[in-house]
Amino acid sequence: RNEYNIAVIPGDGIGVEVTAAALKVMEKVAAKHEVKLNFTELLAGGCAIDKAGEPLPKETLAQCQKSDAVLLGAVGGPKWDNLSGDKRPEQALLGLRGGLGLYANLRPARIYDELKAASPLKDTIIEKGIDLLIVRELTGGIYFGEKGRTTVDGYAAAYDHEVYNEKEISRITRTAFEAARKRRRKVTLVDKANILESSRLWREVVNKIAKDYPDVAIDYLYVDNAAMQLVKNPAQFDVIVTSNMFGDILSDEASMITGSIGMLASASLGEGSLGMYEPIHGSAPDIAGQDLANPLAQILSAAMLFEYSLGMAEAARDIEKAVKSVLGQGYRTGDIWTEGFEKVGTKKMGELVLAEI
Ligand code: NAD
Ligand code: IPM
Ligand code: MN
Repeated sequence: RNEYNIAVIPGDGIGVEVTAAALKVMEKVAAKHEVKLNFTELLAGGCAIDKAGEPLPKETLAQCQKSDAVLLGAVGGPKWDNLSGDKRPEQALLGLRGGLGLYANLRPARIYDELKAASPLKDTIIEKGIDLLIVRELTGGIYFGEKGRTTVDGYAAAYDHEVYNEKEISRITRTAFEAARKRRRKVTLVDKANILESSRLWREVVNKIAKDYPDVAIDYLYVDNAAMQLVKNPAQFDVIVTSNMFGDILSDEASMITGSIGMLASASLGEGSLGMYEPIHGSAPDIAGQDLANPLAQILSAAMLFEYSLGMAEAARDIEKAVKSVLGQGYRTGDIWTEGFEKVGTKKMGELVLAEI
């Protein structure tokens, strides 16, 4: 094919800024590979609440369903923080992930040689390398379980249920093992099986499926230990497979050891080729609208879009090389800036990457 339909959801805050930068890069890469991309901009999140009265308008979900891929910036912000749970901007994300059946969230964290100075870890730890992939379950668990308010002994109470079934665990586990086969052939299940019954089911199912992958090593870590090990010795990790909430938390930590949350991309995939691509960071209200955000996580998410939804691995490599080259030239946004480098804003960083395509 030489023409694709891409749904674009800039969202709120820096989502708008980083998405603008990524779209230009996508256009140039597409032209280089003689492919036409038709972008359709859609509303979701806080801006959708303001303009359409709800975080995820039906039309947005319908358009995404018809597209080849979705590029999303970020949603949310203080303006909408006091709305009730089901009316908040973040609900749009869950609606998109669930509605599009995107159960597998791939979050690769690797350290670029050029960015070693930006990592808070010691050289002796970084020297061993950081190249891990968090495979986060995305449409189940506590995010999607029953939740509500009640009273207990006359006190206000609230609950969120963590529920996982065998089907949900099996498919994400297979995603993790398949990914490991293309990498260093090691899967680590991160859970809390010493406490949670749902984690004990994860272990049973993962053990069963591991038998189909005798060429891949499997080990297990409790999530508290995993959080510690990520800082102590990140080189030990290849693929981490974990639940929705643990994956959310560990991926922010994983991003920082590679330099910044502004560097970490993600792909959310389901059964078909339709995927949604977004940086792991949020709308960053503290720096929004000031041309301060690092657009590289979103630009690298666009690379994942080319690779996973359009089958254009070379275009993805072009983008990754361009990013590496700009870092090699010494340009840094504030989040990854250290002494001796040149500080640039969101727009300039986008233009620098564009020039390298
Ligand atoms: P955040 O990721 O938006 O910001 C955390 C910190 O990292 C802030 O100091 C921010 O300035 C910094 N940061 C984030 N991205 C950056 C970038 N590209 N360049 C430089 N610095 C960056 O997390 P938060 O502050 O907890 O959440 C803010 C809002 O975003 C909330 O409404 C939250 O619900 C929402 N959120 C949305 C998504 C999403 O849409 N996928 C993800 C996370 C949070
Ligand atoms: C992320 C975000 C979301 C999540 C929130 C905003 C719903 O933190 O994409 O990492 O927890 O999945
Ligand atoms: Mn998160």
